[in-house]
Order: sequence, then structure tokens, then C-alpha cells
Amino acid sequence: MSHVLIIGTGIAGLSTALRLAGRHEVTVVTKDRLGDSNTTWAQGGIAGVLGADDTVGSHIADTLSAGAGLSDAEAVRLLCTEGPERILELAAAGVAFDRDDDGHWARGLEGAHSFPRILHAGGDATGEAIIEALTTALRAAVAVGTVRLLDHTMLLDLVTSLTPSGTGAGRKAAGVQVLRDGIREQLFADAVVLATGGAGQLYAHTTNPAAATGDGLAAAIRAGAAARDMEFYQFHPTALAGSGFLISEAVRGAGAFLLDAHGQRFMPEVDRRGELAPRDVVARAIHRRMAVQDGLPCYLNARSVPEVSAHFPNIARVLAERGFDLTSDLIPVTPAAHYFMGGIATDVDGRTSLPGLFAVGEVACTGVHGANRLASNSLLEGVVFSARAAEAVDADLETTPATNHRSWAPVSAAAPRFGSIHLDAAAGGNRAISRGDLQTLAWAHLGVERDGQGLRSLLERLGEGGPTHRTADAAVTADDAVTANEEPTAAGIVEEIESANLALIAQSIASHALARRESRGAHTRSDFPAHTTPPLQEAASC
Ligand code: SIN
Repeated sequence: MSHVLIIGTGIAGLSTALRLAGRHEVTVVTKDRLGDSNTTWAQGGIAGVLGADDTVGSHIADTLSAGAGLSDAEAVRLLCTEGPERILELAAAGVAFDRDDDGHWARGLEGAHSFPRILHAGGDATGEAIIEALTTALRAAVAVGTVRLLDHTMLLDLVTSLTPSGTGAGRKAAGVQVLRDGIREQLFADAVVLATGGAGQLYAHTTNPAAATGDGLAAAIRAGAAARDMEFYQFHPTALAGSGFLISEAVRGAGAFLLDAHGQRFMPEVDRRGELAPRDVVARAIHRRMAVQDGLPCYLNARSVPEVSAHFPNIARVLAERGFDLTSDLIPVTPAAHYFMGGIATDVDGRTSLPGLFAVGEVACTGVHGANRLASNSLLEGVVFSARAAEAVDADLETTPATNHRSWAPVSAAAPRFGSIHLDAAAGGNRAISRGDLQTLAWAHLGVERDGQGLRSLLERLGEGGPTHRTADAAVTADDAVTANEEPTAAGIVEEIESANLALIAQSIASHALARRESRGAHTRSDFPAHTTPPLQEAASC
């Protein structure tokens, strides 16, 4: 049997693991506890055409239109045509999608959808319901021994080896280095699937959980895998001001609207679709309003939404805990980093440019979202492309003999302790910058609006010339001079490694954003406001 390593336990990682369990030895690695992921926090739902009154063609058209002309058309076609079957599989796996009074699945509306096609569970706890079903299935697989689970295990780097054929610049993915119980270990595998999610923690304001630090993306970049669309980070328009708590677009879909600090409604004059314009349009409009009202937040008015607390119980509860009544208060909202459209470049079957390395979910970039993701297409992407990637892993492993160095149990490396681990990973980013400073700089220069001057100053701050992209093999033997005299703590080490990963990703976003001398979708250059500039003019460096 071949050994497959899956890193990450959101919807994409879990779905891939469940499809491969029993067919290969499968090890699932997760940084925290099983199921801790961005998926768990997803509120609004999963988009898919499941009613005779809607059409796949309409879903395709909406996805392409939101993507501002940069979506990969084949990836969009596959997403929308294969999506409904994957959603039915989720329901069969135990996800109890909400039903309307007639017993049919209730379908909500979100921005830039021309039809209500968002399925949801628990009102506004769709991600939680999906994770509950998938982790239950995964635990069952662990119980019968078809999956091995390593939780509280952090990805450090990919391990690569020479390919016999010399494809992929002569190297292939051969496993990963992880940090587990303070020890660096290597896990070898015949295929590695990265499903590590996004990097919202790069920004001072984000809807993402603390674990979203781009570890898989940074490791892939260091190993030489191609990244794409890095300039496109989606900002959700409505996070609770000062907290990052998401207030689902579905609330606007149900009729809530936005007001500025003077109580004036402004979206209808920005876009004919008003509050249900694509996410980039609404986020930009709020950002610009805030700029002319001295940084004060805008407000969401959901007072007239019928039974709003019943439809959005989780949101109403969290707001109540923070002193707001969704039924009667105006809720202060600001944009916050939400979803990374860019990532590790893959084909529609999850294959990356590095043989043996696959990527699925938010860490991957098939190009399906183009410059701006359509609401509720992310959970869908997770299930559709993980199913395709699982098939591709199967197909590739059929033609590749299993290696004799694979390990079901982790192989302890020479067990370098914290100090050297810290230096290995931190070498990929800028050590002089604190997490807080990085987040503030990223918000200022890689946020809703950017300009060349800010991007260049950020790149300068992060270290001209870019980070060192070393392969994991090189990192194993790294013996950088130890700069810290005191013994670092485990939590401190993890945070430094994460910060180094975020700094590397910031450099990549900045260089891609500098190269794209136009405004398009979520990438708004105040110095290049037009949408018409032809191809990239400055080469992106990573
Ligand atoms: C939301 O509920 O507004 C978020 C859904 C998504 O990101 O697609």
C-alpha cells in the first residue's frame, strides 16, 4: 500500500482523507484539534443548484462574473456541475441542511447570486454541521485503523527527494517535517496533500481563526511549488467592528442593509445590486466610507429582517454576548480579511507543479475564483476539488511504485530541539518584525486598497530581495547561528514559525500586487484604478 499524508482537517482535508481511507495508508495531520479550522467558522452556507427552478448555467455565469474575468472557466464548470452531487453526499454523510415549511431544503440568497441557492444548516452554523459529520466519519476510520490521526502536530516544511525521471525540476514531494511535542520529526509518504487553509492571520482584521497562518502555502513556496493569484485576498464586508466576528452575507441576503456613520444608506448609489453586489464591491465601498468618516465603522441594519434571530441564531447569540441586539441595534461593521483566492497553483485535480504534492481547498489555487470569490463557493470548492484530487492521488499512485522509505509511524529525526527548529523556519521570513507589526503593515499596504509606494515600502521592510526559499532538505541540515540566548517556549516557537510563514506570504502577495498594475476584483490599486491594463509588467518574484 502507498502512504498518503494529508495536512489539515477542514472540509477539503477531511473529504480527501475519507475518500482515500482503506485504499492507501492515510495519515492526517492537524495543527490543533481535529476539526479546528476555518470551515468550522463558516456561517452562510454552501452554494449549489439543487432546485429545478435554478440552473447550473446561471451558477457558472454568476461565478465567472464575480471573478472579474480571471476565473479558470473549466474549473468553474466543474465546480458548478459536480457541486450538487457532492452536496448530496454531504447530506448522506449526516449534514442536516435546514428545510423550509414544505420540507424542501431551504435556499438562501447571497451577494452576486442571481438565484437563492445557498444551503445552510443550523441557520448560520453550516461549517460546524459539515465538520461534525466529517469528523465523526474520520474518527470511525481512525477506530478501524484505516486512518492515523496526528493532532497538535504542526507542519514545518515539505521534504523533497530527487525524481528518477528528473521531472518537476528533478524533485518530488517525499514527506513533511512536523513539530510534535517539541520535537521535529519527518513523515515520509508517496503523496502529500496540503489542505491547510488560508492565511487570514496576516492581517490586523480577519474573520479567520488563530490557526490560519498559511503554513502549507509557505512550505510549498519554500519547496519551490508554483503559487498563483497571490494578489487576490478577499475581504469580507461585514465583520463586527473591532473583533473580526463574521456577520454572514446571508443576513444582507435576507434584507439587512448598510448605513454610514451619519445613518445614510450608500450601497444603492455604488452598485445597482446594492448590498448584494459582489463582495469586493461592498468591501471597497465600506472601506472608502470609513476613510471619509475618520475611520468610523459603518452599520448593518437588520431590524426589519423577519425573524432575524431565529434565522441567524449563532450570530444573534454572539452579538448579544458582545452587547448588541440584532433585532433592534445598528451593528458596527468593517471589512476583514476572509478568504485567500490565491495559493498553490494546481490543476483541476489538485496536482501542483511539484510531483507528489497535491493541494486542495483554500490553500490551493485552481483559478476557480478568479479575482473575487462568489459567496458560499468555498465550501463547495472544498468538496468538489478534494474528490477530484483523491482520484488523481489514486491514479498517480497506481503508476508509481510505493517507496520503501515510507513510514506509517513518524520517524524521529535527529531530534533537534526548539532552538534549531525556530531558526530553520524563521529563515524563510523576516525575523526582525513582530506579528503585530506585520499585521498592521499588511492591513495598511496589502489591504482593501493598495498602491505601488506602499507595496514597495512593505517589501523593503520585509527584506529586499525576498526571503530565502530553501527546500526542506536544506532546512534539515541548517545550522544558522543561534541568536536567542534564552530557551524559547513551545508556544513561542510555534508563533515565530507562523509569523515567518506569514512574512513570506506577505512578500509574495506584495510582489504579485506590485506586478498587477490594474484594479481587478479584490485587488484595488489606487494608483492604477482602471480595469484595463494588459498583462503583468513587473515580474512577480514568488
Ligand atoms: C458568509 O456567510 O458571509 C461567508 C460565506 C462565504 O465566505 O462564502
